[in-house]
Amino acid sequence: MAREFSTVGVVGLGTMGAGIVEVFARNGIDVVAVEISEPALERGRATLSGSTDRAVAKGKLAAADRDALHERVHFAVGLDALHSVDLVIEAVPEHLDLKQRIFAELDRVCRPEAILATNTSSLSVTEISVATTRPNQVIGIHFFNPAPVMKLVEVVRTVVTAPEVVADVEALCARLGKVDVTINDRAGFIANALLFGYLNHAVGMFESHYATREDIDAAMKLGCGLPMGPLALMDLIGLDTAYEILDTMYRRGGRDRRHAPVPLLKQMVTAGLLGRKSGRGFYTYERPGSPVVVPDEATPPAAEAALADGARAIAKVGVVGSGTMATGIIEVFAKAGYEVVSVTRGAEKSAKVCEAVKTSLNKGVVRGKLTEADRDAALGRISWSATLDHLADVDLVVEAVVEELSVKKALFASLDEICKPGVVLATTTSSLPVIDVAMATQRPADVVGLHFFNPAPVMPLVEVVRTIRTSPEATATARAVCAALGKTGVVCGDRSGFIVNALLFPYLNDAVRMLEASYSTADDIDHAMKLGCGYPMGPFELLDVVGLDVSLAIQRELYLELREPGFAPAPLLEHLVTAGYLGRKTRRGFRDHSHR
Ligand SMILES: NC(=O)c1ccc[n+]([C@@H]2O[C@H](COP(=O)([O-])OP(=O)(O)OC[C@H]3O[C@@H](n4cnc5c(N)ncnc54)[C@H](O)[C@@H]3O)[C@@H](O)[C@H]2O)c1
Repeated sequence: MAREFSTVGVVGLGTMGAGIVEVFARNGIDVVAVEISEPALERGRATLSGSTDRAVAKGKLAAADRDALHERVHFAVGLDALHSVDLVIEAVPEHLDLKQRIFAELDRVCRPEAILATNTSSLSVTEISVATTRPNQVIGIHFFNPAPVMKLVEVVRTVVTAPEVVADVEALCARLGKVDVTINDRAGFIANALLFGYLNHAVGMFESHYATREDIDAAMKLGCGLPMGPLALMDLIGLDTAYEILDTMYRRGGRDRRHAPVPLLKQMVTAGLLGRKSGRGFYTYERPGSPVVVPDEATPPAAEAALADGARAIAKVGVVGSGTMATGIIEVFAKAGYEVVSVTRGAEKSAKVCEAVKTSLNKGVVRGKLTEADRDAALGRISWSATLDHLADVDLVVEAVVEELSVKKALFASLDEICKPGVVLATTTSSLPVIDVAMATQRPADVVGLHFFNPAPVMPLVEVVRTIRTSPEATATARAVCAALGKTGVVCGDRSGFIVNALLFPYLNDAVRMLEASYSTADDIDHAMKLGCGYPMGPFELLDVVGLDVSLAIQRELYLELREPGFAPAPLLEHLVTAGYLGRKTRRGFRDHSHR
């Protein structure tokens, strides 16, 4: 029989603690909520009220249930109030000495049979436990932010945690409606070990002006379907907490440079820019604690204003290529009202592309997204050609031919001969340096990258890549074109992986390393990222969809360009590719798909 928990204590009512109080009280458990001072207690109480009032306003909680919830919570200053609880969860700032002091005190105050739990994200639960005389009753219960919403709990057992304590806590998680994964005590556990390298990398991109905060966040939301971008997530986590987590992970987790906090973070913390909780972090909020972002001096001007930056008028567009991307891009431009000249290597290829565009547009008609008249008008705007000479009078060329530098360079040299002055020349390359392509022409200032995502008609994101030679007008034109296509164009520098792949693939590679180290299973790792961080797919699901060979190739390029040791492809990924297990397309990758 699992132990009954009728009263629990929560220590520290900040970002996490207040949410944890709500989780327990919502599930009919009495809570003693403890803070260090009266003002801090008041803040915690206000956070809880704000959250439950929002739930009532959204119709997610009845007013009577909110009142009952509040009645279950007893607020107090000081740990002495915890003398008769069955379990305590500590959620004070991420400092080992502070947590050890609190655990020593809890050990003295609490009943001998009480379980003492920490919500630490990165510190050693084992080191915290030895501050007590009952390390076998100490455990990690790691909730995710915001605690009332996120379904995952990581239950962290140390080498001395008693098995029945683990079982009791697992049963408690089930009672709270949470899904738990039980793991050993390692820096960052599952989710943070995979998340924080990515977050820190995104901060580094921002710090080096590689892209704006809005563009970095939009890229990951729209390109990967994440619930929020990395910088908005840092603001939610709290920059002080994030700094401590990174710093601890760096020291405990094998001194991986990717976890060494980017210097900007420390500066922001020192300046009091802690994120949502202080009203300002990477973004500015309506007031401290508010989730509402308000414009500030870094907010980019509206799209119309950007047009004034010298964006050139584009009416006629050439698309070179006959593959999946070219086909999708032709459709996107034609649907948006542009005149399109498609250039392929022959009539046969043109006929195939034309057929594919028709099929796709017809699907739109069947699904009610397009009228027959719109479809016919779009098709009427496309002309088919087998020679680049027909691109003499276009305003923009989008190249989407095979991913080989020599082929692209030769093509750009020809475009340079044929196209009129002032045309913007764009490559859709996902991995080659855009500057190499640009230097094949006499007009590198007019060359940009336009990295569409597959399938182009569906995916809302385009990465606009500016090289060190690209003119502001060419960049503004590319961005304005994206907006006219109904897509979000994010501008970034000309580095391997641009924004999305550079942030995504190292994380996937890290997940493979974690599996390889037998720290957890593919199922639990996928669960952790979906339920703890709200990702639409877990890393192994995504790797099997993308293809292990494609993922390995991208990871290799990132490694070769940046020489970051942490980016070295995981040996397990290499072995699976060598074995021909490439993912869904070969019916076997990390999982066996042959029966599905
Ligand atoms: N922020 C997140 O997204 C997140 C997610 C999961 C876990 N965590 C972990 O949760 C813990 C708390 O982080 P947070 O972000 O909520 O921090 P926070 O800074 O928002 O809140 C900490 C609270 O602890 C209180 N406190 C400090 N000393 C105290 C004491 N001696 N007694 C009682 N209360 C005290 C502070 O007044 C403050 O209200 C950390 O270990 C962190 O790693 C954070």
